Amino acid sequence: MSDVARVLFLGDIVGRAGRHAVQHCLPFLKKEFAPDIVIANGENAAGGIGITADIATQLLESGIDVLTTGNHAWKEKAVYPYLDAEPRILRPANYPPGAPGRGWAIYPAGEHRLAVVNLSGRVFMDLVDCPFRAIDAILDEVLCTTPMVLVDFHAEATSEAQAFGWYVDGRCGAVIGTHTHVQTADARILPQGTAYITDAGMCGALDSVIGMQVEQVVRKFRSQLPVKFEAARGRPAVQGVYVEIDAGSGRAKQIQRFQALPGSSGIVLRAEQGLLPE
Ligand SMILES: [Fe+2]
Ligand SMILES: [Fe+2]
Repeated sequence: MSDVARVLFLGDIVGRAGRHAVQHCLPFLKKEFAPDIVIANGENAAGGIGITADIATQLLESGIDVLTTGNHAWKEKAVYPYLDAEPRILRPANYPPGAPGRGWAIYPAGEHRLAVVNLSGRVFMDLVDCPFRAIDAILDEVLCTTPMVLVDFHAEATSEAQAFGWYVDGRCGAVIGTHTHVQTADARILPQGTAYITDAGMCGALDSVIGMQVEQVVRKFRSQLPVKFEAARGRPAVQGVYVEIDAGSGRAKQIQRFQALPGSSGIVLRAEQGLLPE
């Protein structure tokens, strides 16, 4: 029995460019990292904002095991019954009681069981319940079943994500930030064993403003008038992290951030090991 769970996590999948890039790169990434479980944030998979049942199903059929989401989970109202019915998709656990779907669950990861928790930050975000108190309550339940816990912390403010990482250091195997769509260069393992990155990045078109068409976003900033945003097309990247979590202790052994760049001569992988504790 392997003593680690190998986890591949992909940042927010944005629109068709992101979906196609993930479908194209996933077999390559699976060969490269041999993950036991693949998790991806799908909150922007439908047209750049939101996710539909059809698109979630396609992503799950293309080799993703668990979809997390975030504040955009609620964009498509037709997806709400799907959030209730499909156990492989999560939405932030700290929305008020009564929100459709579930915020955490335990999934098979090879021979092990990994708890995946989706939480939203509160700084410049929806006014959700406190994510710090929420994780305490969730861990009370989860740690009876498995020591391996991964959190998708969906947050705008880098400070809130970092504070959350420190708060759960040693209690969660990984805290992976999502939502900004910009991969941060701070992947590391915190002193008590939590793998951490402020943001895993995005799967989507590179020539864009966080995945959306440049001209539309610039027009919005210049005019301050309503502008319809559409997902950008063109050269994509698949960004994320690879994490190994010890099955006995639940602590992380390594974290690598990466981006895969599909091109005419194949897929180029750029990966960097995160810092280990001193
Ligand atoms: Fe997003
Ligand atoms: Fe978001």
